[in-house]
Amino acid sequence: MTIWNGAGRRIYLQEVGTRDGLQAESVFVPTNEKIALVDSLSRAGMAKIEVTAFVSPKAIPALGDAREVMLEIERVPGVIYSALVPNVRGAEGAIESRVDELNLVMSASESHNLSNLRMTREQSFKGLCDVAARARNASLAINVSLSCSFGCPMEGDVPEETVLEWCARFIGEAGAGGITLCDTTGMAFPSQVSSLTRRFRDAWPDIELSLHFHNTRGMGLTNVMAGIDAGANRFDSSLGGIGGCPYAPGASGNVCTEEVAHALQLMGYDIGIDLEKLIAASKRLPVLIGHDTPSQIVKAGRRLDLHPLPRDFEMIKQRADSRAI
Ligand code: COA
Ligand code: ZN
Repeated sequence: MTIWNGAGRRIYLQEVGTRDGLQAESVFVPTNEKIALVDSLSRAGMAKIEVTAFVSPKAIPALGDAREVMLEIERVPGVIYSALVPNVRGAEGAIESRVDELNLVMSASESHNLSNLRMTREQSFKGLCDVAARARNASLAINVSLSCSFGCPMEGDVPEETVLEWCARFIGEAGAGGITLCDTTGMAFPSQVSSLTRRFRDAWPDIELSLHFHNTRGMGLTNVMAGIDAGANRFDSSLGGIGGCPYAPGASGNVCTEEVAHALQLMGYDIGIDLEKLIAASKRLPVLIGHDTPSQIVKAGRRLDLHPLPRDFEMIKQRADSRAI
């Protein structure tokens, strides 16, 4: 089967707009609006939703209401509700707020880890092993998001070996059941995605692999396709294409959920998404964040959202018909 023919293959779309998206916004979206947004994403059929982040409200003011949001969202059966946590304090908040999965975060690049989390990678790793132990005690799933896996905006290329070594440590020592390879600032390109995905899949066929792309350089959807071709089934994306890490220079939006969903549905992949509901949710975003989003689907409509004929079409046609060929 080629990547252009989905033939019913299941691909899981994981929404990160309420975390990666809103953390990048300067406005504080009211708590009740965040809850309504998560609920509409649940009803649109997202497989997993990264609802929020249990981080310092000084570092990320936009997500200072993590507990309230997590506790008050509707829990639609089958949807996994996850939250980002950087340390034990965050893990405690997330566990008390009944998350299904803890998403631990660390960067594959030392410079980005220090800028973002104020720790060396070794310090982060040690702390995250404690977080993982708490999650295991609470019988919660553990995923690790490895930022800058496809390049660091300050260091440049991050060797594949480095990325895979950290994966090995998180899987072997921290007991992670899932790893997300994150392209934090849109540096990934398709052949690189293909190579890293294949190496990961060969090394850990039973570990849940997710890919997380930003569309900073216009390669987002191509990278998703390269990932699918190389055996990945799970992709993070953000409603409206908003998003970006405030501590990564040059960061911009994630791949846009409705753009990815639209493209994969056309190719016959089974993504379990109600596109109409997704687009309706996305259309509400500009009111909440105070500006337009990058979504091409909101701008242009779906492929078969047709436009009316020109008003003088009948006249044009009659004139054309009356002319000799
Ligand atoms: N939740 C809420 N508050 C937290 C917290 C958490 N998980 N972890 C730390 N804090 C608070 C501390 O209480 C302290 O508050 P105070 O200044 O009022 O005393 C402050 O944050 C600093 O704590 P400290 O332990 O000194 O950590 P730090 O300054 O080294 O910061 C992080 C480390 C990771 C907690 C912080 O930088 C952070 O939350 N960053 C956000 C990273 C992020 O989400 N990036 C984007 C996504 S990849
Ligand atoms: Zn991201």
